[in-house]
Amino acid sequence: MTIPYSSSPSPFSPAAVTEVVAPPSGAAKPRLTFLGTGYLGATYAICFAELGYEVLGVDVDADKIAKLSAGEVPFHEPGLDLLLRQNLAAGRLRFGTSYEQAADFGDVHFICVGTPQQNDGMSADLTYVERAVTSLAGALTRKALIVGKSTVPAGTASWVQQLVGKHAAPELEVEVAWNPEFLQEGHAVEDVLRPNRLVFAYESPWAGGILYAAHKGVFDLAATEEREVPVVSCNFATAELVKMAANSFLATKISFINAMSEVCEVTGADVTLLARAIGYDPRIGQRYLQAGIGFGGGCLPKDIRAFQARVQELGAGESVRFLHEVDLINQRRRTRVLKLATQLLDRPFGPAGPDLSGTRIAVLGATFKPNTDDVRDAPSLAVTTLLHKAGADVHVYDPQGMDNARTVLPDVTYEPTLDAAVAGADLVCVLTEWGEFRNADPTGLGQLAAGKIVIDGRNCLDPALWIAAGWEYHGMGRS
Ligand code: UGA
Repeated sequence: MTIPYSSSPSPFSPAAVTEVVAPPSGAAKPRLTFLGTGYLGATYAICFAELGYEVLGVDVDADKIAKLSAGEVPFHEPGLDLLLRQNLAAGRLRFGTSYEQAADFGDVHFICVGTPQQNDGMSADLTYVERAVTSLAGALTRKALIVGKSTVPAGTASWVQQLVGKHAAPELEVEVAWNPEFLQEGHAVEDVLRPNRLVFAYESPWAGGILYAAHKGVFDLAATEEREVPVVSCNFATAELVKMAANSFLATKISFINAMSEVCEVTGADVTLLARAIGYDPRIGQRYLQAGIGFGGGCLPKDIRAFQARVQELGAGESVRFLHEVDLINQRRRTRVLKLATQLLDRPFGPAGPDLSGTRIAVLGATFKPNTDDVRDAPSLAVTTLLHKAGADVHVYDPQGMDNARTVLPDVTYEPTLDAAVAGADLVCVLTEWGEFRNADPTGLGQLAAGKIVIDGRNCLDPALWIAAGWEYHGMGRS
């Protein structure tokens, strides 16, 4: 489905709002619903209940709703379980599967459903957004604000407005707003309670006022901590692009340092020192310059592809062509470990690629980054697949991601502990920078391994410590 793009934005120009609007339900504060209780929606629902709102989380997946209602977060996110249980107990938070219940309960409805990459192309699949909006709009019986949070292509907010126009009774004057989110997995509770900025797009003073009221808890918390939360009020197109631009910039920064790490490898330089040295320039900054096996997860890879696809549709493809290169650099990082492993294990490169048969490799890390159990497009699992396909006997350990990894990649051996994975290995590959790996004792591990060779795919180990313990250490982009 290609969504139409309206090039004539609304004449309303959103200015900063600081006045709350009375909720249509008659409640003291707007009652909030979060439609879609995946990673994004569940985290927001729980955290906004923590901020003092009455919240309903809605999902079509009854199992997920049953778990959440029973106080169990269906994914790993530090600190979220406790907040879920506390807010269920306080009676501010509930979960359900009914859009009628959502329509009856809420004043402000946040669309938090997934926008995955389409199976047959690079674009975002908006099926779930369409289903959530039409189901809700058709069930509404009073005025409400529908707020898009899902990451979407430019033009989606106007299209949602049209859907609402078709499915909600016109006399209700249901409005649409856009409010992109920037939370990072593993850090999500902090990112929601204490965001570094908020982006509000809306097309009437009423929508701005109720959106502000729906975030007053965030501003109040900031005030008690003597912080300010910057707000950017803008039109729909800007809000949609802010999210795409932010993720594109982050992906570009990572691919930049990974490209530098390739150059470091042929020149004998050390990319970790290079990153530190350039990062002292405040215009560059130290963060997001960690070279390694590249970015993964459910956001950056799919977002840079969906962005290219959409901008191409809109006739400005050249402007984001560099994102194709960003993607290519990122994909190359995944094959780097395979090549290095083949060299280090002194194995031949046959006509069908490297032959690692007869070798045993320990893979430490399956998730796309630490402090999550998310394995979506995880570079670690992509590398594991390559090692396995090359014939290696691969033994994987991850502190949180084993169940999800097993579902995606059932053919390798999963070990219950770090020690069990390393025991008998000819080569150890550290592919996710979990604290458990960074703090592991290289001397003890050296006694378990068959060969003391380590590839540090995330440059997260202390080379001096590992070398002193007798290991042959290989980082990414480090001589
Ligand atoms: C990303 C963005 O950081 C969030 O701001 C955004 O809200 C989110 O996507 C989203 O669109 O929902 P997330 O996917 O949780 O958040 O992950 P990041 O922390 O950004 O990490 C992405 C990948 O980049 C990971 O695989 C990580 O290991 C890798 N990375 C990160 C590097 O390889 N090097 C770095 O220096 C930083």
